[in-house]
Amino acid sequence: MCGIFAYLNHLTPKTRKEVLDFLVNGLKRLEYRGYDSAGIAVDSADGRNVSIIKKNGKVQALQDEIYSREADLAFEATADCHVGIAHTRWATHGTPSERNAHPQRSDEDNTFCLVHNGIITNYKDIKLFLTKKGHTFESETDTEIIAKLMMHIYKKNPNDTFQEIVEQCIQQLEGAFALCIKSKLFPGECVATRRGSPLLVAIKTKTRLATDHIPILYGKDFRPHGGTAAETLTAASLMPRTPSTAEFQPMEEDKQVEYFFASDASAVIEHTNRVIFLEDDDVAAVKDGTLSIHRIRRNMDDPHAREITTIKMEIQQIMKGNYSFFMQKEIFEQPESVVNTMRGRVNFDTQSIVLGGIKEYIPEIKRCRRLMLIACGTSYHSAVATRQLLEELTELPVMVELASDFLDRNTPVFRDDVCFFISQSGETADTLMALRYCKNRGALIVGVTNTVGSSICRESHCGVHINAGPEIGVASTKAYTSQFISLVMFGMVMSEDRISLQQRRRDIMKGLQQLEEQIKEVLKLDSKVQELAKDLYQNKSLLIMGRGYNFATCMEGALKVKELTYMHSEGIMAGELKHGPLALVDETMPVIMIVMRDPVYTKCMNALQQVTARQGQPILICEKGDKDTQEFASRVLEVPHTVDCLQGILTVIPLQLLSYHIAVLKGCNVDCPRNLAKSVTVE
Ligand code: F6R
Repeated sequence: MCGIFAYLNHLTPKTRKEVLDFLVNGLKRLEYRGYDSAGIAVDSADGRNVSIIKKNGKVQALQDEIYSREADLAFEATADCHVGIAHTRWATHGTPSERNAHPQRSDEDNTFCLVHNGIITNYKDIKLFLTKKGHTFESETDTEIIAKLMMHIYKKNPNDTFQEIVEQCIQQLEGAFALCIKSKLFPGECVATRRGSPLLVAIKTKTRLATDHIPILYGKDFRPHGGTAAETLTAASLMPRTPSTAEFQPMEEDKQVEYFFASDASAVIEHTNRVIFLEDDDVAAVKDGTLSIHRIRRNMDDPHAREITTIKMEIQQIMKGNYSFFMQKEIFEQPESVVNTMRGRVNFDTQSIVLGGIKEYIPEIKRCRRLMLIACGTSYHSAVATRQLLEELTELPVMVELASDFLDRNTPVFRDDVCFFISQSGETADTLMALRYCKNRGALIVGVTNTVGSSICRESHCGVHINAGPEIGVASTKAYTSQFISLVMFGMVMSEDRISLQQRRRDIMKGLQQLEEQIKEVLKLDSKVQELAKDLYQNKSLLIMGRGYNFATCMEGALKVKELTYMHSEGIMAGELKHGPLALVDETMPVIMIVMRDPVYTKCMNALQQVTARQGQPILICEKGDKDTQEFASRVLEVPHTVDCLQGILTVIPLQLLSYHIAVLKGCNVDCPRNLAKSVTVE
């Protein structure tokens, strides 16, 4: 995920080299989040302009570039007051490249330069508006429109303060953002703001601060009709504003001050532990060394000030938040990551879904002979999980293939096949080889990846970016649920005009809308799952049974247990029980069964009784409040009810948690299980 770091020194002389080192080190602290390019904006050596330096690839490459321009950048010159902004970018709009890296700028003179985390969902409307006003764009990013919009606002109201320009700008934005902005019109000033993406301001002074709070100043709402951003842009075309009536209250503190802005505390903790976590729609502005926090309007229960908190955590801890491992963090991020996968695509008001990356190809896909979903490991399981729904919604034959086996078989592929390649990393060698094999045979190639600019992304004809954010733990968790949702969204797009499927589609839409809250509810099972793990972790084996929509959960759960805990585990299709696996069942064999109130419920209950008849003591994952089913179980994990085809998202989470807790109890390396790598680039 992208990372923001900015540094402002006021009356604290620093050499320009020191400033540049701060910026680069700040970015290095954010590297763990994953990124594909990096950049900075600082005052030019003569102080009259702004220099932007960007590099594709690692922060090290950016640092090398900066150091190669030592003379240009006047390393030894001293600046009493200076503002520098820096960024690591994880591509969402546009491939990883220097052009698309941040800072993005308003014009060739770098009048406004900014770094951005998040996604602006109405950027196309704003871009259209600005294009009509004569602005030209140099990147493919959503971010660039923000810089250009600031320029537009400034030209309309040249007497506005920096903070006022930013306030007007963000009122036109929809989506999520954390922004740090520097302007050559306002030297020594920095403005930062957020909505939906985290951002903090850290303060360093020589003496202890005289205050623990920064009062909030309230201004004017610049959107006259309170309509959508696009409406306001065209209707009001950025009306001249009335000056803010809020009283300015400078902070009583040491005049020598340094400020750090960052998307997470790991980037600032080595400098200071005094931070303010900004809230949505806060606009934090530093001018003449004084920090003020502004908001457009005050809600009844809003506090009057932002507290300066003292953070006590170690860097390592902060990077993982309150979590012990990245995998744990990523499991708990799922309420947010599933929303990110749907963001800007699913419109719950109009009940419609648009997948921009494959939109143009939908007519061709509808004419195809069959769909083939090809992947490895967890990504393969996401294909298994959605196959039934895709068959139903597309009314096409759907083949699901393990990439390695698909290649071994020299599987026949035809020009009128559509082949999906699902991969978190976008670099898995088997999947990539299978992609090239299908491409050579003339099939349409659709990539479903989490990594923009990856090989699978680049070599596909079209695709869906799952937007789960970087996954650092080797065991895939949030990428699985996001892949699952991406494939469901594809099915929904394909069935849009099917009259007979309208009720089904409405049910799925409702299910998608409820997912965030329902996942939060499932995550509350954590301590119960931890207790279960204590009973299971010394066992040699664990069977996980289910069928229908939940068979994929069984396979995925078993894979998680295997790879993290080194315990033998098998996902068993409950329909196959009598054909062999039942021989494994006795009073000592731990068995988890998934029994949901769906079309295969009766069949699952039969399997459950076959297990209990052999003295098996099944642990049940079932629907909340389903007392009839729970009667047959030794233990129960209840998940909320949802539409059958989305159950797999809720039923897999207790198994992710279980594998995690067993791994912790066994002292295994949770984030890097033995013998495994995050990206498998060899066949
Ligand atoms: C399991 C896991 C692997 C990957 C597989 C494919 O937790 O992470 O099974 O799913 O190696 O990787 P991607 O999705 O990057 O192609």
